[in-house]
Amino acid sequence: MANIRDVAKYAQVSAATVSRVINKKGYVNKETEKRVCEALDALQYSSSEIASRNGITASSTIALILPDLTNPFFHEMARGIEDVAKKHGVIVIFFNSDDLGYKEKSYLDILTNKYMHGIIVASNSLTQEDVGRINDKDIPLVVLDRALAQDSCTTIRSNNFEGAKMAVQHLLDIGCKRIAHVYGPQEFITARERLRGYEDSVKEFPWYSPSLLIQGDFRFEGGREAVKTLLGRHKDVDGIFVGNDLMAAGALKGLLQMGIKVPGNIAICGFDGIQLTETTEPEITTVAQPIYEMGKLASKILIEKMQGISSENKVHQLSVTLIERKSTQRTTRLLQKG
Ligand code: RIB
Repeated sequence: MANIRDVAKYAQVSAATVSRVINKKGYVNKETEKRVCEALDALQYSSSEIASRNGITASSTIALILPDLTNPFFHEMARGIEDVAKKHGVIVIFFNSDDLGYKEKSYLDILTNKYMHGIIVASNSLTQEDVGRINDKDIPLVVLDRALAQDSCTTIRSNNFEGAKMAVQHLLDIGCKRIAHVYGPQEFITARERLRGYEDSVKEFPWYSPSLLIQGDFRFEGGREAVKTLLGRHKDVDGIFVGNDLMAAGALKGLLQMGIKVPGNIAICGFDGIQLTETTEPEITTVAQPIYEMGKLASKILIEKMQGISSENKVHQLSVTLIERKSTQRTTRLLQKG
């Protein structure tokens, strides 16, 4: 029995185009539509298949390109994507790009020629040209989190700028007098937006200096090394906004190894909201992204595009929430103890 990919191959179009012709939803030019109809006839694609699957067949497949499978943030995001896909009987195939542009490009070359029914990209090296190439193949695309905002596809990410301001304000509210920022790799738009939010919050304070900015790598070890560098520069720092939770856990470890009490001497706040922050001692205050929801939304929109019932290309910016925990719970008594 021919499936939607066989029809796509025969007509030399994408599976998404075949879906649109079958469902009579979304734009398809006349010449393409004619080719698809000829393919449906030639392959005797089962009408019951057409009626029952609403453009999604049992073999419909989504490719998900993630940048760093060692980071729990992406596990939770992938969980959201797969839970929605499963409900539609759609298979998700994971690819790990290790944030390497050349790896991602080779994956995209393979995927755009393998009649993938949809692609979700969560890493940062996607370019406008890549998006154009995928669109030319009529393969639905959603970019998630780190990928640059594109006006020719759907983008989903958290409000990183406002989240950073939330973190700094919380440290100010608990009485911090000099706040530093361990920032993520600046090739990631998420890290750039958090750095921008930190600077926007502190630039007016007389104590602010660019030397309070420390480069991290979004990993545990990078956070631990960053605080050692920071304390070598500024002994009087009493609050640190750390650009993601993995680095915040590393920063906590580094501070404790230097005999510094958290939160008594230095309060720390992370970003992401991964479960790891509940396992440390003290537990880490963090700005939580709606990670699972981001994954679900990406999958929902992509599948609607595959079914030809949506063709939106919007930027969805989701709200974040501050989760206060012991790493910023400071009382006068605690401060006096230092
Ligand atoms: O922890 C991984 C980080 O990379 C997260 O903050 C996420 O937003 C991504 O950009």
